[in-house]
Amino acid sequence: MIIRSARFVKSSTELSQCPSDHLPELAFIGRSNVGKSSLINILTGFGKLAKTSGEPGKTRTINHFLINDNWYLVDLPGYGYAKVAAKQREKWTNTLKEYIIRRENLLCLFVLIDPRHKPQKSDIEFMEFLGINSVPFARVFTKSDKMSRDSLNRSVRDYDTIMLVNWESLPVTFITSTVTKAGRTAILDFIEESMNNFSK
Ligand code: GTP
Ligand code: MG
Repeated sequence: MIIRSARFVKSSTELSQCPSDHLPELAFIGRSNVGKSSLINILTGFGKLAKTSGEPGKTRTINHFLINDNWYLVDLPGYGYAKVAAKQREKWTNTLKEYIIRRENLLCLFVLIDPRHKPQKSDIEFMEFLGINSVPFARVFTKSDKMSRDSLNRSVRDYDTIMLVNWESLPVTFITSTVTKAGRTAILDFIEESMNNFSK
């Protein structure tokens, strides 16, 4: 997949505000600060398209970026961000769930996971929610530049072990780094394949 153009289209606070042109889209989700916006920036290679921050809770809306004039990458707010008032957090969670379940043109959701931490309940439960609702998703272990290969593999295995209790097979999995650009080509190839299957 070659990215020829990438531009910000709009920020939405609800599903009803999202673009209505039914172009295929792929979205990025995961706990706050895991690197969703940064990954979008290295995938497109168009600089600081999505806003990033060292402070969790940066992305607070559903952001659509139009790629090659015919599909979208979507940057979503993080889940599990404790510093936000409970009421606001509940509203985001409901908005995210509605987007995920009802967005018909969503080809795949990339669930980003920080492998530096032990398997997190919020990540496991979130993927179970996707399974129950038959939402296609892939796992992305981010920030691989911050760990040794051994501890990274151990962390992925820890997730696999927990998931295989309830899942028959494991989802497609990527390892990424915005520093080394690891995983960029693999994800772009996967996106191309998903789009080819979609248009068949
Ligand atoms: P929210 O929008 O707050 O939910 O966060 P986010 O998931 O979009 O994270 P963001 O892309 O803003 O990145 C958070 C921090 O992690 C930033 O300081 C990034 O520079 C850093 N970061 C993201 N990905 C990587 C990576 O692969 N390697 C390293 N070393 N740092 C990363
Ligand atoms: Mg963000």
